Amino acid sequence: MSTQSTTTRSVTINTLTELKLKAEKFACLTAYDYCNAYAISTAGVEVILIGDSLGMVIQGHDSSLPVTVDDVAYHVRCVRRGNQGALLMADLPFMSFYSEMKTLENAAVLMREGAQMVKLEGGAWLAESTRLLTERGIPVCAHMGLTPQSVNHLGGYRVQGRDPAKAQLMIDEALILQDAGASVLLLECVPVDLGRTITEKLEIPVIGIGAGPHTDGQIMVLHDMLGLYPGKAAKFVRNFLSGNRDGVQGAFRDYVGAVKSGTFPAPEHCYT
Ligand code: KIV
Repeated sequence: MSTQSTTTRSVTINTLTELKLKAEKFACLTAYDYCNAYAISTAGVEVILIGDSLGMVIQGHDSSLPVTVDDVAYHVRCVRRGNQGALLMADLPFMSFYSEMKTLENAAVLMREGAQMVKLEGGAWLAESTRLLTERGIPVCAHMGLTPQSVNHLGGYRVQGRDPAKAQLMIDEALILQDAGASVLLLECVPVDLGRTITEKLEIPVIGIGAGPHTDGQIMVLHDMLGLYPGKAAKFVRNFLSGNRDGVQGAFRDYVGAVKSGTFPAPEHCYT
């Protein structure tokens, strides 16, 4: 039986690993709907994240905590129909992976809807879940550094790993999750040096957001890079739409180009 495909490329986890080996950067963006999924995948984005940031940018909550597995599943379905060959990663939302059994069940829901990888926020405590998912054919992206689902525990959306002991712990835990089978690590809001160290120590590709220019890939929330989200943007955000003569599609193309050429993130988007 042949696979159905109208696309000219199909990004897999092997593609990302090969790009890391060749020291070629790759670009990732969030999307939650058909049209944006089509637009960003045709602009050359390698990974689309159906992120639980949808709680803020789609639903208007002040955090991602209210998002449910059904919410993410709905947006996976929308994105899947528009996607042209990018790898689809879906977030397991707040409290959907509190036990190993729940993790497997909820990951299966998202994979059945069309996700090709699930992302879980947390450190070494997720090693067993990561191993169970991977053994059952579900690729895992570990999300470390600033983990927005723990905003109440962290005391706000703050840079993580500034303290040397906490930085070392993050390195150790990233290695544990890699050993447990994680295929990708997403690193959010850490100083440039820590982003570099973790990227160099890990064999798996590392995607950064506010983690400096040395990570293998970069990701942004789509509404941030178009300047749509109200309020003051975080330091790591660059508005690619502002002043862009080619509009939204130009912004997506410029973002991909800036990531691949290494001009984004620039020093003003980084934490030292
Ligand atoms: O949910 C999301 O959009 C994310 C990004 C911040 C990486 O996890």
